[in-house]
Formats: sequence, structure tokens, C-alpha cells
Amino acid sequence: MADFVHATVMKTEVIEALAPRAGVFVDVTVGGGGHTEAILEADPNARVVALDRDSIALEASRARLARFGNRVTFVKTPFGHVLKALQGLGITTVTGLCADLGVSSPQLDDADRGMSFRREGPIDMRMDASEGETAIELIARLSDDQLADALYHYGEERRSRRIARSIKRALADNQLETTLDLRRAIVRAVGPVRVGGVDPATRTFQALRIAVNRELEELESLLAALPSIIEPGGVAAIISFHSLEDRLVKRAFHDRAVWQVLTKKPLVAGDEEGAANPRSRSAKLRSARRRGGSTILPPGNSLPPPSGDVSLPPPSMEIDDEGGDP
Ligand SMILES: C[S@@+](CC[C@H](N)C(=O)[O-])C[C@H]1O[C@@H](n2cnc3c(N)ncnc32)[C@H](O)[C@@H]1O
Repeated sequence: MADFVHATVMKTEVIEALAPRAGVFVDVTVGGGGHTEAILEADPNARVVALDRDSIALEASRARLARFGNRVTFVKTPFGHVLKALQGLGITTVTGLCADLGVSSPQLDDADRGMSFRREGPIDMRMDASEGETAIELIARLSDDQLADALYHYGEERRSRRIARSIKRALADNQLETTLDLRRAIVRAVGPVRVGGVDPATRTFQALRIAVNRELEELESLLAALPSIIEPGGVAAIISFHSLEDRLVKRAFHDRAVWQVLTKKPLVAGDEEGAANPRSRSAKLRSARRRGGSTILPPGNSLPPPSGDVSLPPPSMEIDDEGGDP
């Protein structure tokens, strides 16, 4: 898939944190495959289980990573089900995990997904277009107050009540068909773009996308699973893009009996990367090492052999997780 272009954020820093070696790594947000590729290139004995909830992303990364053969296994699942996904492959613990949260550039750029207020499309916003409630269904289901609360909590939008009322009025008046209608309803509530300011629709679109995809619930489930899936000495490296996510990651690494924090302050992208990829400017990378042993594993918690016979299914296999909400 030649047109799936996503610039991988903080690749060098993620590889430094994970220090790939013989073992199984899990990339819970494979997207276009940039971090997985870097892990596989860093050590010929590293293997990766690559998860994504988006079939198009999986298809693109499968094509990009075909040359690594059975060193990479793809699983279609929300990462809140990471434990179940690994168990399904017969894997109990992994040597490292990376997560690059949020959406990819192709997801944002695809007008049909309705994630961007700059492109006309259906008010959908799902990362996995095959299941779950769309943004317009969510707007219809929530009361004015519930919608305002969602905009406030997930978008940190201070003008949430006014915006929610305007959106619900547009829906009642049959004037809420597309993303551009949604943006118009927001502008009616809070006024047009300020010169040099961010678009007035930014926070509302972020909030609806987070709610539709249950992004914070997903992250909480992933973080809760980390202590049981990362082997002693293994590392979790998580890139977040807004303070709601970063706060959760920071809190998850708080337990010093479980984690040795490797990033006292989150790492941010360097100037060069920031200039080349504006999206990287809001990235924050936190990583932590699982305590309970050094990189030498305790007896009974064996690393997979360096090559050949880890019991991963063949690379073409895609396990569809039929599970419901995380
Ligand atoms: C920022 S992109 C990852 C890009 C990737 N690291 C690369 O270098 O190409 C985020 C990806 O995570 C996926 N994603 C986001 N939330 C997810 C979740 N809860 N479960 C599974 N995949 C998720 C999205 O579908 C998207 O493909």
C-alpha cells in the first residue's frame, strides 16, 4: 500500500529505551509499521507481535514488513485486549512493549473517517470502521449535558456547554450531516477562527474522537496489563500526545516496587524532528523497566530462543478479536 504515509515519531528514542535483543516485543499501535520495523532491524533475533484495531493500518504494515517473514505477527485488536491477544499466541510475557498513541496521519487524512474538521466527510471518527458507535450516533445518544461533559473532559474545552447546545440544535434541525456541518455548529457557538489561534473545532473534534474510540479506557486497560505482561528487566515505552494520556502513563509507572522509571521527565522530540514533523512536537515519551530481576531472567521465566522456533503463528495470520468493550 504505497499511499500509507505516516512519519514515525521519536524512533531513535523508542529504540534506545527498548534496547531490542533476542525476545518477543509487542508494538500495540503498529500503524504504518515504523517502530516495529526499527525493532526488527535493531536485532536479528527480536520478534514483534504487532497490534492495531485498524485493518487498513494492518494491511499497510504487513506489506511494509513482509521481508521480516515470521519474525512479525499481526493481530487485529484494540490494545486494551493485549493480554488476551498474547495469550492467544501462547505468549505469557514480553521483553518490551511500545505504544504510539492516538491516530495516524492516514487516518486523519482520510475524509471518509470523519476525523478532520478540514475535510468533508461523515461524522464517524472510528479507528476501526467495522464496529462500535460513530460520532454522530454518540452525539444523538447523549443529552446536551452529557455531550458538554464529554467535550469538557476529553477536549478540556471550556466552552463545552455552548458548543454542545449548538451541536444538538444542528442535529435537531437536520443540519448535521458532515464534519464541515459539525465545525459550522461549533463556530456558531464560539465564533470564527482567531488569527494565529487554533481552530475553534480542534478541542471538540479531539474530544469526540477520544470518546468514540474509548481512547482513555483503552489506555487504562493497557496500563493495567503492563505489570503482568512485561518480564522482569523488560521495558515499556509509551508515546502520548496530550496531557490526559500522559497523566495516566505517568501514574501507571508510579509504583516503584514494580517500575524503575527511565524518564524522570518525559522525553520530547528533538528540534530537527519537530521541524520536519509538526505532529512530533506534542509527543511525550515515558519509559520504565519492570523490576523483579535485571535483564537476566529468573528461573522458569524463559526468553524464547534466539531464532527459529518461537511459537508465533505465520506472518500472514490475522487474528480477529471479536471481543466486545474492553
Ligand atoms: C500514531 S499511529 C502509530 C504509528 C506507528 N508507530 C508508525 O510508526 O507507523 C497509532 C496507531 O494506533 C492505532 N490505535 C490507536 N488506539 C488503538 C487501540 N486502542 N487499540 C489498537 N490500536 C490502536 C491506530 O489505529 C493507529 O494505527
